[in-house]
Amino acid sequence: MIIRPLAADDRTQWAALWSGYLAFYESELDPAVTEATFARLIDRSEPMFALVAEDAGALLGFAHCVLHRGTWAIADFCYLEDLFVALAARGQGVGRALIEAVYARADALGCARVYWLTHQNNPARKLYDQVASHGGFVQYRR
Ligand SMILES: CC(C)(COP(=O)(O)OP(=O)(O)OC[C@H]1O[C@@H](n2cnc3c(N)ncnc32)[C@H](O)[C@@H]1OP(=O)(O)O)[C@@H](O)C(=O)NCCC(=O)NCCS
Repeated sequence: MIIRPLAADDRTQWAALWSGYLAFYESELDPAVTEATFARLIDRSEPMFALVAEDAGALLGFAHCVLHRGTWAIADFCYLEDLFVALAARGQGVGRALIEAVYARADALGCARVYWLTHQNNPARKLYDQVASHGGFVQYRR
């Protein structure tokens, strides 16, 4: 398995993973949003990046990140917005490898922080507790 940046040629396989991710969240998106998101993720001039895990040409999962300014550091923060591994590939370290690759990329970009949100009941917290710390923050939104 390798971890590499998402590329334009990945569109079909990425879309299948993306729809699995939306189904996990019991969500639907306007196709125009999916279109714009993919275009931005492969556009190096956007303050975003996407990494994919690939095994023998098959995409196993993705990590999508957004880089943004903050008030607590001069360097950007890296928000890991989406993390997904195909059902058949889970439990083999792909998710962990994607997070570690995000860390490496964020370090190379000089980011001051990598962070993400998750549902309090997400069983993946078992993984997150091994690779990051949970400071007790709770998200509010409108
Ligand atoms: C979260 C997710 C990306 C993890 O991917 P993965 O490739 O299965 O993770 P890993 O194999 O690297 O897991 C590493 C460890 O965490 C545990 N773990 C990870 N995800 C888990 C899950 N959903 N349920 C139970 N344990 C999980 C594994 O058992 C493993 O523990 P171990 O090393 O002690 O054996 C994947 O489960 C997924 O896509 N879930 C659905 C979408 C989702 O929840 N995304 C994250 C939103 S914040």
